[in-house]
Amino acid sequence: MHKILFVCLGNICRSPSAEAVFATKAKHARLSVIVDSAGTGDWHVGEAPYGPMQAAAKLRAYDLSPLRARQFTVEDFSGFDLIVAMDEANLRDIERLRPTGNDTPVKLMMSYAPQTRVTAVPDPYYTRDFDEALDLIEVASDGLLAELQA
Ligand code: 4NP
Repeated sequence: MHKILFVCLGNICRSPSAEAVFATKAKHARLSVIVDSAGTGDWHVGEAPYGPMQAAAKLRAYDLSPLRARQFTVEDFSGFDLIVAMDEANLRDIERLRPTGNDTPVKLMMSYAPQTRVTAVPDPYYTRDFDEALDLIEVASDGLLAELQA
């Protein structure tokens, strides 16, 4: 059973979307996975995903409404076998917390979609382009799923 954690900054836009998109794709592929998401920051802990993000996701049949933001913790290195960061800043913030001796892989989300030549999922909280974020998350989720099935 794969245990995968998606991580962004606030855990109200990109990583909850990645959690829902990847969970949906894995279910359709009949791949057993445990998925979760977290933010490196604590500003939105306990909150539901951001309204405009939920609305954009809902148009693609992803329900983000049950999700609640939490902060990434050092225990996540032992609780998951893959950690997927939405951008390079998330990746650096995660790596800064890595316990000595832990070797859990931490990968960039867009490393699973090299054909896009995009390295990060731009933060739609700032860009306001929620569909761009979903487009990238969907294509990277396809790539991650294919890698796990290979
Ligand atoms: P996310 O977007 O990292 O994709 O959840 C953000 C949402 C809120 C904030 C930062 C990023 N914020 O600083 O409030």
